[in-house]
Formats: sequence, structure tokens, C-alpha cells
Amino acid sequence: MTKRVNGGLFDSAAAGTMTWLDERIDLSSVMQWLKHKKVPVHRHSWIYFLGGAAMFLFALQVASGCLMMLYYQPTEAAAHASVQKIMTVVPYGWLIRSVHVWGAHFFVAATFLHFLTVLFSRAYRKPRELTWVSGMVLMGLTLTLGFSGYLLPWTELSYHATMVGTSIPEAVPGVGQVATHLLRGGTEISGDTITRFFAAHVAIVPAALGAVLALHLLLVQLQGMSLPLGLPRGQVRDERPFFGEFLYLDAGLWLLLLGVLTTLAVWIPAEVGPQANPLQPAPVGIKPEWYFLFMFQTLKCVPETLGVAFFAVCGLFLLLVPWMDRRASRETRSPAFTIVFLGLLAYAAIFEAWAWWAPGVPGAKQELVADTYKLATLIPWLILLWVIIAFLLYYLLQFVREAARVRRLHRENDPRTAA
Ligand code: HEM
Repeated sequence: MTKRVNGGLFDSAAAGTMTWLDERIDLSSVMQWLKHKKVPVHRHSWIYFLGGAAMFLFALQVASGCLMMLYYQPTEAAAHASVQKIMTVVPYGWLIRSVHVWGAHFFVAATFLHFLTVLFSRAYRKPRELTWVSGMVLMGLTLTLGFSGYLLPWTELSYHATMVGTSIPEAVPGVGQVATHLLRGGTEISGDTITRFFAAHVAIVPAALGAVLALHLLLVQLQGMSLPLGLPRGQVRDERPFFGEFLYLDAGLWLLLLGVLTTLAVWIPAEVGPQANPLQPAPVGIKPEWYFLFMFQTLKCVPETLGVAFFAVCGLFLLLVPWMDRRASRETRSPAFTIVFLGLLAYAAIFEAWAWWAPGVPGAKQELVADTYKLATLIPWLILLWVIIAFLLYYLLQFVREAARVRRLHRENDPRTAA
């Protein structure tokens, strides 16, 4: 009884709000337009989850980053101490920062996976060239977020890694010196570099990423989801409406990601290495984050100018690939491009593994979390979190199944589609 009254109240309040908005901004036309988006169901449908996963992780980075911004201080004197404070004094600061650090790895990994599936399924082919180009910009911005965030704790490793990273443009003849100077805010890495990187990391890059993402999503909404090249139409078992079905499956994955990130953050909290000392030489064996490793290893093997030229050519090739792969745009397989993509992937994997297994800086990191951090007392909370996630997942799946069943029933009973 109570349930019905509450449901009724809620429903009429929602309907009232909708009518109010509709009279002012014609909301139902927008809703109608959004409802057009359908997601095909076939054996490779999992690829359609990756862009949404990257988007969720970006949102999580913004949320956790905003919380850290309340305590982080972007100056040479205070940066390191303020991160130590977040890890030890600020209530649950260690949790927020650890989710942010793990989230960064996941965000980059999800973006890479999304990029690879879009590349190999030829989703860039006509008419999605602009979606692809906006995606390439998103990839660049994602990596820039990773690079600019790395310096902020002002540790020995982050200082020297930034020194190496910002010196790479110097290999470009003519403008290289100016670019490096611009990045560092001077000739050296200093407090000015922190100010610059902080502005980039918390405002300029996220704002640009948000704007380009809005364009990316608009294009996806306008064009719908593509089928992997070569997949016969007959293999599409169903078409799920995005709003009303697929989005709930997306939300299920986001819940799982949140659970995994929280578990990792509790189990293996982020570390804070020793404070940067610009007077000390770079430690032997210094390496950047995993997503820059293959490039770093390349630059160790060939003259820097050659390495930078090679990356520029690869980047340009990938950016323009929708216009070069004409066969794909004619819906014909293009094995030559598959071979080139596999070659590039193999190169990146080999150089990545090579750099990964090379010895790093011993003991460069140290764990630093609040005295109140006790894994044993946190485990019951983790279990509770997973029980809640399992319950919500079950509920979401039931909801989607029921929505699909009702949709099929409608379709079967609709004389237009039944015929
Ligand atoms: C911040 C990073 C990114 C986010 C948040 C993002 C988000 C999304 C979302 C939500 C979709 C629709 C669902 C899906 O296909 O997964 C999508 C589709 C697409 N994305 Fe991205 N994306 C990102 C990066 C990229 C990159 C790096 C590329 C490639 C260079 C790319 C190219 C595409 C293309 C071509 C589609 C259409 C796929 C199709 O129609 O099958 N995106 N993106």
C-alpha cells in the first residue's frame, strides 16, 4: 500500500516536472531524438562498452580530483607536503587519492582499448571520420592529463620524469627550444612548472577534454553505432535502444569499475616517493608511466630527432587513416591496413615489454597512509560494498531483461513490424 502511494507520488511529481520543462524547452522532442540511438547486438557487442567506460573513468577522475584540490597546494615548497597530508591526515584522503591514481591507469587503458577496437573494426570509415578525429584529440588530451598530473606530487621520480618528458620537444629543429621553455615555464623544472602543470591538469585539459567529448558524443548520437567491417547484417541478433536498455548495462559496468578501483585503492594504496631535490642527479633506471614506456624505450634506442619524427609520422598516419583506407569506406575488407596496424601494435608491445622488464629505481617509492588505515578493519566494508554492487547489478540486469522482453512483445504484436 505504502509502496503504491509513494510510487504514485513520485510518478506524478516526475510527470509534473516533465510537463513543466516541456512547456518551456520542448523536452520531449529532445527525448525523442535521444531515443533514436540503437546499439546492435552481435558477438562483438562488448566493444560498444569501452567508450562509455572511458567516459565514466574521466568523470570519476574529475570528481576525485576536485576533492583533492581542496587540500593540494601547487607550489614548490608545499606540493609534496600537501600530498603527504592528503595521504595521512585528511580523512579518507588516502582513499580518494588512491582511487584517483588507480583511476588514471584505468582511464588511459580504457581509452587505449577503445581506440584499438575502433581501429580494428574500422569504425573510422565513412561517415565517421570526424568521430575518429575527435577521438584522436581525446587520446592526446588523455595522455596530457596523465603527463601533467605526474609532476604534481613533486617527488624525485616525478621531477626527473618531467625533466626527460619536457626535453623531448627539444629534438624538433627550430621550435623545439621554445616549446620546452613554454612547457617548463623557464629553462628548468621549478615551482613555475608546477603552477603551469597544475593549471593544465585541473582546468585547461579537462575543460578541453569535456568540450571535445561533447562533440564526440554528439557525432555518435547523430550517426549511431557502426558494425565491425565485414560482419554480415544477418549476424545482428537485436538492436537495443541506448536509453532504456544499453545505458543500464553501461551503468552495470561502471559499478563494477567503481568496485574494482575501490578494492585496489584499499588493498594497494597509492604511494608518495621522496620529495624532489633539483640539486640531485636523476636516479639510474628512471622510467615514466607505463603508457609512455614504449616511446621512452624507442627514444633510448634511436637518435631523439629520428624518434620524434617517427612518432609524428605514426600520429599523422593514424589521424588520416579514414581517408587513406578507401576500401573500408566502400565496405570492403582492407587486409593491408590490418597488417600495418598489427605491425604498429607489435612494435609498441615489444618496446613496452622491453622497458617494463629493465631494472627500475630501487626503493624509489614508499607507502604513506594514515595511522588509522588498517586493512583488516576495511575488509568488512569492502565486502559490504561488493554485496551492494552485486545487488544493484542483479537489479539492473533484471530490469534490462524485462525491458527487452516487453519491447519484443510490442514488436511481435505491432501489425507493422509483425508483417
Ligand atoms: C576520452 C576518451 C574517449 C571517450 C570518453 C570516448 C567516448 C566514446 C563513446 C561513449 C562512444 C560510443 C560507445 C562506444 O562505441 O564505445 C564512442 C564511440 C566512438 N569513438 Fe570514442 N571516446 C574516447 C576516445 C576515442 C578515441 C581515442 C578514438 C579513436 C581515435 C575514438 C573514436 C570513436 C569512434 C570512431 C566511435 C564510433 C564507434 C562506432 O560507431 O562503432 N574515441 N566514444
